[in-house]
Amino acid sequence: MFQKLAAGGRCLALLAFISQAIPVTAGASYDVLPSTGTVLNLDIALSNVTYTVKGNETIFDVAKKFGVGACDLARVNVLADPNFIYANETLLIPARALFPDDYSCFSQNNTQATNDCIFAGPHVYTIMPGDTVQKIANERYNITVESVLNQSAQTGYIAALDPGPYDVLQTGETIKIPVCDNSICTASVFTFSYGTLQDFATFYNTTVGQIMALNLGYNHTTGDVPLGVFYDCEIIS
Ligand SMILES: *[C@@H]1O[C@H](CO)[C@@H](O)[C@H](O)[C@H]1NC(C)=O
Ligand SMILES: *[C@@H]1O[C@H](CO)[C@@H](O)[C@H](O)[C@H]1NC(C)=O
Ligand SMILES: *[C@@H]1O[C@H](CO)[C@@H](O)[C@H](O)[C@H]1NC(C)=O
Ligand SMILES: *[C@@H]1O[C@H](CO)[C@@H](O)[C@H](O)[C@H]1NC(C)=O
Ligand SMILES: *[C@@H]1O[C@H](CO)[C@@H](O)[C@H](O)[C@H]1NC(C)=O
Ligand SMILES: *[C@@H]1O[C@H](CO)[C@@H](O)[C@H](O)[C@H]1NC(C)=O
Ligand SMILES: *[C@@H]1O[C@H](CO)[C@@H](O)[C@H](O)[C@H]1NC(C)=O
Ligand SMILES: *[C@@H]1O[C@H](CO)[C@@H](O)[C@H](O)[C@H]1NC(C)=O
Repeated sequence: MFQKLAAGGRCLALLAFISQAIPVTAGASYDVLPSTGTVLNLDIALSNVTYTVKGNETIFDVAKKFGVGACDLARVNVLADPNFIYANETLLIPARALFPDDYSCFSQNNTQATNDCIFAGPHVYTIMPGDTVQKIANERYNITVESVLNQSAQTGYIAALDPGPYDVLQTGETIKIPVCDNSICTASVFTFSYGTLQDFATFYNTTVGQIMALNLGYNHTTGDVPLGVFYDCEIIS
C-alpha cells in the first residue's frame, strides 16, 4: 500500500542540493492514492516464492517466468528503475494480479517534450548505465534534447565529447540539466518501501530524473532509505 511510504527519516545530504528550495516539511503523510488510474495494482500481495536473478535476466524475463506483471514485480521489490535488476539479487514474487501491469512503472519516452528546464534543480545529473542525452532528457526529465545539448551550459565531459542524442554516455560522469530561473519547490523526505520511482514521480507531479539527481547513488539493493522529493513547484517573480 502507498501508506507504507510514510514520511520520516533524516535529510541526509539532500539539504546540500536545496539551494533554491524552501523548508523541508517533516511528517507529510502519504495516504492518498494517485487518482489517475494509471497505476493498476497498488496493493499487490506476495506469493510464497522468491527468485534469484540469473545473469542478464531482465524484469520482463522474470515476470514472464512467474506469469506476473513486470510492474507488479517491480513494486513489491521497490525497484527504483525496473530496467536495473542484478545477477544474484533475490526478488520477491508477487501473487498474480487480475490485470498484470507491465507498463505504468516505466517512464514515458516523451520525444515531443516542450519544457526546456526543470524546477528548482539539482543542476547536475549523474549518468547511469545505458544513458543517452535523449533518454535523460525525454525519458528521465521530460525536457527537450536541445536544452540539454546546449554546449555553453554543459559540463566539461559533455562539452569535450560533443555527443549526439543517441550516443551512450560514460556511467558516473555528470551532465548539467537546465534549471528554470526563479523556480522553487517544496522538499520532503520519505521512506520508500513500496513502488517504483515512477510511481513516486507520478504522485508528486515530478520526474524520475529529478528524484534520481536528488538522491545520488540511490540503489534499490540497499533497502529502505530516506528518499528526497521536490513537489509543488512554481516560478516566483
Ligand atoms: C506455496 O503455496 C502453494 C499454493 O498456494 C503451495 O502449494 C506450496 O506448498 C507453498 N510453498 C511453500 C514453500 O510454502
Ligand atoms: C550477458 O551478456 C553479455 C553480453 O551479451 C555476455 O557477454 C555475458 O556472457 C552474459 N552473461 C551471462 C551470465 O549470461
Ligand atoms: C552469482 O553467484 C554465483 C554463485 O555464487 C557466482 O559465481 C557469480 O560470480 C555471482 N555473480 C555476480 C554478478 O555476483
Ligand atoms: C525513445 O524514442 C526515440 C525516438 O523515437 C527512440 O529512438 C528511442 O529508442 C526511444 N527510447 C526508448 C527507451 O524506447
Ligand atoms: C511532460 O511535460 C508536458 C508539458 O509540461 C506535460 O504535459 C506531460 O504530461 C509531461 N509528461 C510526462 C510523462 O511527465
Ligand atoms: C545555453 O546556455 C547559456 C548559458 O547558461 C545560456 O545563456 C543560453 O541562453 C542557452 N541557450 C539556449 C539555446 O538554451
Ligand atoms: C506540475 O508541476 C509543474 C512544475 O513542475 C507545474 O507547472 C504544473 O502546474 C504541475 N501540474 C499539476 C497538475 O500540479
Ligand atoms: C547497485 O547495487 C548492485 C549490488 O550491490 C550493484 O551490482 C550495481 O552495480 C549497483 N548499481 C548501480 C547503478 O550503482
